[in-house]
Amino acid sequence: MSFHDGSFCGAFGGFSTVERVTIADVSVAPALPVRVRDVVRRFPSPDGADRIVLRGIDLEIGAGEIVALLGPSGCGKSTLLRLVSGLDRADAGEVAIDGEAVAPVDQRCAVAFQEPRLLPWRTIERNVELGLPRGTDRRAGRERVAELLRLVQLDHARALRPRQVSGGMAQRTSLARALARNPGVLLLDEPFGALDALTRLTMQDLLLEVHAAEPATILLVTHDVDEALQLADRIVLLGADGGEPGATIRRVLEVDKPRPRDRTDAELADVRAELLTLLGVDTHHP
Ligand SMILES: Nc1ncnc2c1ncn2[C@@H]1O[C@H](COP(=O)(O)OP(=O)(O)OP(=O)(O)O)[C@@H](O)[C@H]1O
Ligand SMILES: [Mg+2]
Repeated sequence: MSFHDGSFCGAFGGFSTVERVTIADVSVAPALPVRVRDVVRRFPSPDGADRIVLRGIDLEIGAGEIVALLGPSGCGKSTLLRLVSGLDRADAGEVAIDGEAVAPVDQRCAVAFQEPRLLPWRTIERNVELGLPRGTDRRAGRERVAELLRLVQLDHARALRPRQVSGGMAQRTSLARALARNPGVLLLDEPFGALDALTRLTMQDLLLEVHAAEPATILLVTHDVDEALQLADRIVLLGADGGEPGATIRRVLEVDKPRPRDRTDAELADVRAELLTLLGVDTHHP
């Protein structure tokens, strides 16, 4: 794996829609809106013919909004994330950030994946440092990394190597590294998928704190309906619809509740049941 594969790209970007805050002499980029219009993505299948994976994807994400992407395995969630980050190109349609078409490996985005992808020979601090935009002033960079380590509660672990930290700590390092890129759009592909249930809940709370401190626009892929309900302003359900090949947006559900949310909230339980039914999971047991 290379760290120049765009696993985390991104940084300073233009138009301010959410107030700019300054942390440790580094100006935090404003959250940026995302627009996906009529996007189609095909991939060659083993028999040589093209197979349509995504079709007619229309999605607008407001600056600072958190959108969760749910859907069955293989339906194209990661593909959509890659299209938004500029790591992949659509066969048709448009993807724009802040009104401007995404560039290959768009500097306005940062991506964090299910596996933290840390460099084992670098300390936690130096892994986070990798996320800093090229040309960052040394002193400002050091301060920014220290600030981010405090934000993800890892300042005590800054000198450790990845093999010396827990899965949750490694995941927090990965999140801090993505934030170091100072992204207007933060793309998270099952970022807590490999963690135990309890650590996962803590990480969800932490992500909300991070979002409050540095309100990037977030597109989050998850398999966990409760995670989506806990974090997202809107939940987008991707999947097959209408008998045509390929996945599209089947449903968008608004979660109109202030965060942090009560995990036992009755209204959320209704949305949860609806989502599970749409995902084909029977919630009524005799
Ligand atoms: N580069 C590629 N070349 C060929 N096929 C691909 C490529 N990338 C993805 N696919 C196919 O596109 C489909 C969607 O893949 P994707 O990884 O986006 O699914 P996903 O919804 O993220 O699944 P999961 O929940 O398991 O992570 C799959 O059938 C996959 O095999
Ligand atoms: Mg995926």
